[in-house]
Amino acid sequence: MIKGDFPLESFRSRRTPFYYYDAALLRTTLERVRLAVADRPDWRVHYAVKANFNPQIMRMIADAGLGADCVSGGEVSAAIAAGFAPSGIVFAGVGKRDDEIELGLKAGIGRFNVESTAELQVINDIAGRLGCRAAVSFRVNPDVGAHTHASITTGLAENKFGIHHTRIEEAIRMAMRLPNIDFYGLHFHIGSQILDMSDFVALCNRINACIAQLEARGVQVRDINVGGGLGIDYEHPNHLPVAGFGAYFDVFKRHLDTRLPVHFELGRSLVAPCGTLISRVLYVKEGLYKQFAILDASMTELIRPALYDAYHRMENLSSDGPETKYDVVGPVCESTDVFGKGVVLNECHRGDLIAIRSAGAYGESMASQYNCRQLPDSVVG
Ligand code: LLP
Repeated sequence: MIKGDFPLESFRSRRTPFYYYDAALLRTTLERVRLAVADRPDWRVHYAVKANFNPQIMRMIADAGLGADCVSGGEVSAAIAAGFAPSGIVFAGVGKRDDEIELGLKAGIGRFNVESTAELQVINDIAGRLGCRAAVSFRVNPDVGAHTHASITTGLAENKFGIHHTRIEEAIRMAMRLPNIDFYGLHFHIGSQILDMSDFVALCNRINACIAQLEARGVQVRDINVGGGLGIDYEHPNHLPVAGFGAYFDVFKRHLDTRLPVHFELGRSLVAPCGTLISRVLYVKEGLYKQFAILDASMTELIRPALYDAYHRMENLSSDGPETKYDVVGPVCESTDVFGKGVVLNECHRGDLIAIRSAGAYGESMASQYNCRQLPDSVVG
């Protein structure tokens, strides 16, 4: 959506900050995903709910027929409320509570992605108590690094996620002995905001090796979940507003040896581009050497710049004045409450509306009430 396409008039009367979601772009994105996997009827794309649990956004994604990837009982309930079929829900996470496991079992979710043998035992016991069976896959820690921000890689041997690939066989054999567990497959996830397709090729190679090794030892795997992680172009939100799904799915078509059903768990690439945080300039302040544009939005609505030093493109929707440099900051009492330094914007005045782009993923869903601030509103346009 280019600057002139935002419904500026309707924004003026709204309380800021709020998230604006471009429904047409989300629909186009979901259609591209559908087309990209249309030749693989047994591939299943799940939406990683953690990226954005806004009920309207979730409902649009459920209506498009995707499954849901959840990491808490709250997300499982939100997914069911939004219309995702329980059989299409997968539930991951290193620390599932007993009540969350019970909720998943009672709802009849499609899969528990289990991250330790201790958790497997608890799921077996709870399923036994409820008189049902649990469909289980194991999350494998593939020890594959991804070329992305250090705090969002998850597939390295040192981190807390999954079971190391050398220990998987032992876990599967335990699952096969437990009376209330049905073992299905392997689950992987190497990180987020990955734009270098060779990282996904490395993941495919690891998966191929894992399956071959298990099959050689007489263990049959029934499906594979390759996780999520496809990145988007934060620098140029108007240039390629739909993520590179063609190239991404092609990697798996070309590099996975197996013909087993494959599951995906995409979050950011589905929803980041369609979301914009709309905020007002409260004050323009002359510093000694620079100018500050002080917004009414802060790290409590969008924490990514403060937390990861993440870049989000910004535009002054209200002004065509000369381009000027600003440090764009929020009102929260933290020195990291900065959206960008030396940002070039059309000249800012009090009351101007500023668009912070590509904020549909890990924006609203990571909002907090720090400093007793209100959670942001949202508008789906
Ligand atoms: N599957 C698993 C097991 C995950 O841990 C994640 C994300 C996904 C799927 C979805 O990944 P995506 O397609 O969105 O890359 N808050 C950070 C991102 C954290 C990602 C956590 N896991 C950010 O704002 O960049």
